[in-house]
Amino acid sequence: MSNSFMTIQRHIMEEEKKHPKATGELSALLSDLALAAKVISLEVNKAGLVDILGYTGEENVQGEDVKKLDIFSHDMMIHAMNHGGHLAVMASEEEAEIIRIPDRHNLGKYVLLFDPLDGSSNIDANVSVGTIFSIYKRISADGTPGTVEDCLQPGDKQVAAGYVLYGSSTIMVYTAGDGVHGFTLDPAFGEFLLSHNNIRIPEKAKIYSLNEGNYKYWRSGLKEYIKYLQDADDRGREPYTSRYIGSMVADIHRNMLYGGIFIYPADRRSPNGKLRLLYECNPMAFLVEQGGGRAIDGRGNRILALKPESLHQRVPIYIGSKEAVDMAEKFISNEE
Ligand code: AHG
Ligand code: MN
Ligand code: MN
Repeated sequence: MSNSFMTIQRHIMEEEKKHPKATGELSALLSDLALAAKVISLEVNKAGLVDILGYTGEENVQGEDVKKLDIFSHDMMIHAMNHGGHLAVMASEEEAEIIRIPDRHNLGKYVLLFDPLDGSSNIDANVSVGTIFSIYKRISADGTPGTVEDCLQPGDKQVAAGYVLYGSSTIMVYTAGDGVHGFTLDPAFGEFLLSHNNIRIPEKAKIYSLNEGNYKYWRSGLKEYIKYLQDADDRGREPYTSRYIGSMVADIHRNMLYGGIFIYPADRRSPNGKLRLLYECNPMAFLVEQGGGRAIDGRGNRILALKPESLHQRVPIYIGSKEAVDMAEKFISNEE
C-alpha cells in the first residue's frame, strides 16, 4: 500500500505485528489517543470563535460550560482513554495526583502520562500548541488498579511516546521504539495519514531555541555556549539562527525536521528549569533519541536514565541534534 493511504491505525497495527507476542492492546491505545487528538484539534481550531459566537465565558450557546482549552483537553484525554480497558492508571500535568481508572476498566497493562495542552499561553494569539503523551507497562500486579509507582518509572522504560502539534496543520508524531513517524490530519477525511516516515533529526544543527529573556539568570557556561553558537569561525562555520515559539512541541518538532537544539536550563531563578520530567521531557527525549538525537539534563545524565521521584518533578533539558547537544555538554560541564 502506498504511503498516501497509510493511516495511523494501520501503521500502528503493522508495527505491532513485528512483535510476535503483541496482543494488539498498544495499537488500540494509540488509536484511542488519535481519536482524542482529533477532538482536541477541532476545539483548538475554533478557539478564536469563542467571543464571536456569543459565548459568555461561563456558558456557551448550548448552555454548556465553556472550559479553558487546557482543561477541555485534559478532560477529553480522560474521557477518550479511561474506558478502553488497556490502562491501569494515568497522570496528567493538569492534575496533582494520579488519575484512577473506573473499576472494571482499570486492569489493563499500560500506564499513560500526558500534557494535555502544551504551550497554552500561546493559544489566544493563534500560535501552535500541542499534546504530549508517554506510555509505560505497569509494574504493579496485573489485575489490580495501577499505582503512583507505575507512573514513576525512568523514561528508558517507555514503550511508546508521541505528540500532536496543532499548527498550520495537525500532525501526530509517535514512536513505539522503532523509529519516529509523523501523520498529518486530513481534515476532509478526518484521518491521520503518513506524511513523515522515519524522521531523522539532522546531526548538524542550525537552530537554537531557548528563552533568552532569562539571560541574566544563566550561569556562565550557558552564556558562553550561546555566544559560541552566535559566532562564526574562520573555517567557514556560520552562526546558528535563533527560533523560539514558547511551545515545546512546536519548537522541538521544527528542530526535529531542520536540525537544532532546544534548551530549558536550570538557572539562578529556576534551579530545576521549568519543564516536567514525566509529561514533557521523557516523551520528547524518547522521540528525539529514536530520531538519532540526544537529550541530557546538563548535570551528567541522559534524561531517559533519570529515576523520577515525584509526579510533577521539573528537570533542566538540552535536547536535539547530537552535535549541538555534545557541544552544550562541554560548555556547561565547566560552568559555575
Ligand atoms: P504548558 O503550556 O504545558 O504549561 O507548557 C509551557 C512550556 C513549554 O511548552 C514551553 O517550551 C515553555 O513552557 C515556555 O516557557 P517560557 O515562557 O518560560 O519560555
Ligand atoms: Mn507543557
Ligand atoms: Mn500543559
